[in-house]
Amino acid sequence: MKKDDRKPTTNDAGMKVPSDEYSLTVGPDGPILLQDHYLIEQMANFNRERIPERQPHAKGSGAFGYFEVTQDVSAYTRAAVFQPGTRTDTVIRFSTVAGERGSPDTWRDPRGFALKFYTSEGNYDLVGNNTPVFFVRDPMKFQHFIRSQKRRADNGLRDHDMQWDFWTLSPESAHQVTWLMGDRGIPKSYRHMNGYSSHTYMWVNKDGERFWVKYHFKTDQGIECLTQEEADRIAGEDSDAHRRDLFDAIARGDHPSWTLKVQLMPFDEAENYRFNPFDLTKVWPHEDYPLQEVGKLVLDRNPTDFHTEIEQAAFEVNNTVPGIGFSPDKMLLGRVFSYADAHRARLGVNYKLIPVNRPKCPVHSYSKDGAMRVENVTDPVYAPNSKGGPAADPENYPYREKWSASGEFMHAAYTSHAEDDDFVQPGVLVRKVMDDAQRERLVSNVVGHLKAGVTDEVLERAFDYWRKVDQDIGDRIEKGVKGG
Ligand code: NDP
Ligand code: HEM
Repeated sequence: MKKDDRKPTTNDAGMKVPSDEYSLTVGPDGPILLQDHYLIEQMANFNRERIPERQPHAKGSGAFGYFEVTQDVSAYTRAAVFQPGTRTDTVIRFSTVAGERGSPDTWRDPRGFALKFYTSEGNYDLVGNNTPVFFVRDPMKFQHFIRSQKRRADNGLRDHDMQWDFWTLSPESAHQVTWLMGDRGIPKSYRHMNGYSSHTYMWVNKDGERFWVKYHFKTDQGIECLTQEEADRIAGEDSDAHRRDLFDAIARGDHPSWTLKVQLMPFDEAENYRFNPFDLTKVWPHEDYPLQEVGKLVLDRNPTDFHTEIEQAAFEVNNTVPGIGFSPDKMLLGRVFSYADAHRARLGVNYKLIPVNRPKCPVHSYSKDGAMRVENVTDPVYAPNSKGGPAADPENYPYREKWSASGEFMHAAYTSHAEDDDFVQPGVLVRKVMDDAQRERLVSNVVGHLKAGVTDEVLERAFDYWRKVDQDIGDRIEKGVKGG
């Protein structure tokens, strides 16, 4: 491009600037003048470029696309986004959990699968992971759990002793830890993994009938994973490998897709199901609740500005739409508070005015003012009013009845169901789903992890923990750690 064909550089006020390269000085060697406000604008903006990273899930990548309903599930939910034939714009962000914004994509860690549907009834966010279960089942333990996976206070290092200390003192972690240490603990790329709501949600149909639902986004690219050795090598060669893979695939027109399937449980079956169906450390076995197809998610557009479109994307579990509600999963209910609070801290109170977070339906809220409110608010600014302002409708609340007979507030564990046990499902995963080679890699992954700085006392607990998952696996892990 010839110099004269290019747009003139301006400052942020649109004034053309005289130089991209030289500051304003008194003579070629003279002092820099304070009136060089363009130089000052450059320095000041640069110094403020970084916003805080997300506390967990700091390293991530994202893309835009659409969700298209292919099957009729209107008997179970009245949500517009899931009505037959509906197509809805989406933004997704994939992430790792424990690492910082620049950490390697291939660390052994669950992957985030955060999806925003810009529905005609407001934004609907499904903030899930690539695993169907989680490490803990009470939100009180989440913050402690994440701290145990991040860095120590003294030397700022990650510490396997801290991780196993927490896990072995939290037997409810056994299912997710078995999953994480198995083959699916490191996906080959974001395109080659499933996404799960993990939580149980509620669906409500147009007659007010309620169902419990779990979401499974099954990758159409097929599940592919990395071994520990491959992941370690890639972490050194290209720490952004998964970000690059996603961006390059979409750029070359190889649009990744996922088929959404759901498990549905009739409302009244929850109370007497063989284990607590709201416990986030458990799956619903497919033989009890088979998968039913809903539609397809396709990613077909890359961001053009990572900071504004992905780094400032704000997903929040509280964004639900009519026809979709919460369940008594305590983790879910904790998350309903946590995300909007995190966004206010990280992005500011008016984060929903950032274009990527804006609904694509009309907004008639009574919020006003605050830092970075950039659009005019109109009167009336209060409710109730007789001035023609928007009016709320109690019919919009998706569910009103109690979830169970025990209405008292208390600090308590879940009511125990007949087969509630922390070690049954990880044992099933090891014995029923994994084959000999997968079990061997599980043992090798755990042995490698335990040999990296875990203290004797925590080690003994770890052997015991694995024997409860499976006696033979536990024995082999102990032998592997002590023998080598
Ligand atoms: P099924 O035999 O019906 O399903 C087994 C599930 O395990 C499939 O979803 C499969 O995913 C998945 N899977 C295969 N290999 C691995 C692995 N190495 N790590 C993690 N998951 C794997 O059994 P059940 O429904 O009775 O579940 C048995 C166990 O399977 C559970 O305890 C749980 O650990 C695991 N699982 C169950 C899921 C569920 O929602 N029921 C979902 C995911 C895992 P795919 O079909 O994509 O290959
Ligand atoms: C990110 C809290 C459990 C998936 C976050 C963030 C917070 C948080 C504060 C950072 C948000 C931000 O700054 O944008 C919690 C709490 C939990 C919990 C309090 C439990 C009580 C879970 C579970 C899942 C999950 C169970 C998956 C099923 C995610 C994902 C992100 C995230 C995918 C990244 C979202 C993005 O890409 O912007 N969580 N979390 N979290 N969490 Fe959780």
